[in-house]
Amino acid sequence: MNIDNIEQIVEKTIKEIGSINDVLILRRLEIKYLGRNGLLTKILRNLSKYHISIRKKKGAIANKAKKILSNEINKKMAILKKSDTISKIENETIDCSSVFYFPFLEGSFHPIMNAMYNIVSIFQGLGFFVADGPEMETDWYNFEALNIPKNHSVRDIQDTFYIQGTEKLLRTHTSPVQIHIMENQNPPIKVIVPGRVYRNEHSDSTHSPIFHQIEGLVVEENVNFTDLKFILKKFIDIFFDKSLEIRFRPSYFQFTEPSAEVDIKCFYCNKNSYCKICKNSGWIEILGCGMVHPNVFKSVNYDYEKYNGYAFGIGIERILMIKHRINDIRLFYENNLGFLKQF
Ligand code: PHE
Repeated sequence: MNIDNIEQIVEKTIKEIGSINDVLILRRLEIKYLGRNGLLTKILRNLSKYHISIRKKKGAIANKAKKILSNEINKKMAILKKSDTISKIENETIDCSSVFYFPFLEGSFHPIMNAMYNIVSIFQGLGFFVADGPEMETDWYNFEALNIPKNHSVRDIQDTFYIQGTEKLLRTHTSPVQIHIMENQNPPIKVIVPGRVYRNEHSDSTHSPIFHQIEGLVVEENVNFTDLKFILKKFIDIFFDKSLEIRFRPSYFQFTEPSAEVDIKCFYCNKNSYCKICKNSGWIEILGCGMVHPNVFKSVNYDYEKYNGYAFGIGIERILMIKHRINDIRLFYENNLGFLKQF
């Protein structure tokens, strides 16, 4: 490029700029003339070799040319960028009327509901009827009728949600339904009661303020602990789908006497490493049970000399966690499809 014909070149380049329709091509042209090694830049850099009088004149010409070109390029760049954005917007417009076919997602029962149905049907097979009861209870049903008097320290174990301004509370277990059933029906009784229960406790990997239980109650003239053992052993074998060794460990509930906790022999234990499920004890606790306390029969006006019975309470989440080796109860309530789809 020669400084002497610079005006013609500027003129030609302006025409060229006019015909460019692409930002990238325009950018290339800008670099060709005005870039660090651009033609005009080089001219300006080389002016020093001229005598001062000529340098001034040529410098003025070259600077003017630079100004004109960069002006033209900037103007064109603005126009191109604007139309570029417009065409992008046009191309990316969402067609709300178009139909998108989702692969059909089939719904299913929540694992807790599934387990409840499953457990209920096992007990139905063993001759039990199904019942349910209210989740909001009075102190009488949740505690007193179950031989848990007011101010008794055992109430501390079951931190309770009381409903302000009323005499009501959220049931802490499904056992109050025993009372409703016995109030409304005479023996023989053989029922199973699935339901949701509430305790005022912080949730962590093994506790949740809302969880589920299944209550069992049998009242007849001649039932004994052996019947209770038989039924629970049958249930456990069917539920876990294998014959498991079980043990009855003495325990304490106000509404049963004697009371026991049922443990199953840990089937996860591996002799070489620490077992997180049973903490190396070899046994896993799965439910509470016992023979119905005579005071409970008294509160529903049953003849406690004539009748006896047994009751048990199973924690659904707990038994499911053991069966499927789930290590955090909160997984049941998070609605994470990755977790739920496994069942
Ligand atoms: N209601 C007891 C609990 O929630 C369980 C239980 C039920 C124990 C019936 C004995 C008999 O811990």
